[in-house]
Amino acid sequence: MSLMDRVAALEAELDKAKARTAEEVEQFRVAMLGRNGAVTELFDAFKTVAVEEKKLLGQRMNKLKQLAQARFEELKDGVGETAIATGPQIDLTAPSLTEPTGSLHPITIVRQRIVGIFSRIGYTVSNGPEVEDDHHNFGALNFAPDHPARDMQDTFFVAGPEGTSGADRALRTHTSSVQVRVMENSKPPIRTISPGRVYRNEAISARAHCMFHQVEGLYVDKGVSFADLKGTLDHFAKSMFGAEVKIRLRPSYFPFTEPSAEVDMSCSICGGSGCSICKHSGWVEIMGCGMVDPAVLSNCGIDPEVFSGFAFGMGVERIAQLIYRVPDLRMYWENDVRFLEQFKAAPFRS
Ligand code: PHE
Repeated sequence: MSLMDRVAALEAELDKAKARTAEEVEQFRVAMLGRNGAVTELFDAFKTVAVEEKKLLGQRMNKLKQLAQARFEELKDGVGETAIATGPQIDLTAPSLTEPTGSLHPITIVRQRIVGIFSRIGYTVSNGPEVEDDHHNFGALNFAPDHPARDMQDTFFVAGPEGTSGADRALRTHTSSVQVRVMENSKPPIRTISPGRVYRNEAISARAHCMFHQVEGLYVDKGVSFADLKGTLDHFAKSMFGAEVKIRLRPSYFPFTEPSAEVDMSCSICGGSGCSICKHSGWVEIMGCGMVDPAVLSNCGIDPEVFSGFAFGMGVERIAQLIYRVPDLRMYWENDVRFLEQFKAAPFRS
């Protein structure tokens, strides 16, 4: 092939040259203009050409070199655009990107778990209104008219319709109110739990909040005994925290139960040897309980001569704290994603 033909062939090649990546642009540069590139080689061969041919050929070759330079610049500039136009190099076998997913709130996780344990031993779930009347929240439950829990300091009262004091409407302070409704509307045997949000007029701090969640339970039938209560709560504690935990009952007082008790559990965190969570006592309080006061049964239309029952009530935040060791109650309400996303994996430790 004469040099002139080689110039023509290279011109055609330059025209067709393509590059999709910076790497390909560089390959082009080396192939054409590099030390051993096609254009460079042509210039080496030019030295041997006869004098009379040199003028015409020289002009064509200079043009070719300029063309190669220009094409190189063009390809270089085009890399960005071309890459977009042809799309990124897609690897169809690569695993897909995972979409961020939400997670259940820790209180929801723990509430579902508590409800699950009682559902499996035959308890139904009852719900009731969060704005309650005095009768369901206090009166039927044996709270004396001058009981301090009815005080404005403890209870949020809700303004009534225009011109009324609203003294009969309050945000429920516990879900025992739901159990009054169940007893009023059904006949024993009754076996039900009432999970829900409750409100108390407390100063908000790391250890107290003006709203929290409870699960309260009620069992009314013929011959229900305190031993049944203790066995049920022992089953609950072991199902929730592990077979090794023990419970103990301490005498206490609630207007609606007699006798009443606080339930302590051997500290699930230190195993009873003493830590900061159990204040080095080895025991943590988990709920209140007792035998339903006969006066409450009759207030709700159930004959206390025939039936007896037990009741218990626990704070979901409290149970959750023993599981997750959340140091500040306020975190449950802040909706900080950095807090919430920690409950995605392995939501339950027991
Ligand atoms: N209602 C009580 C509370 O809010 C808990 C409780 C329920 C205690 C049932 C005894 C029996 O603290």
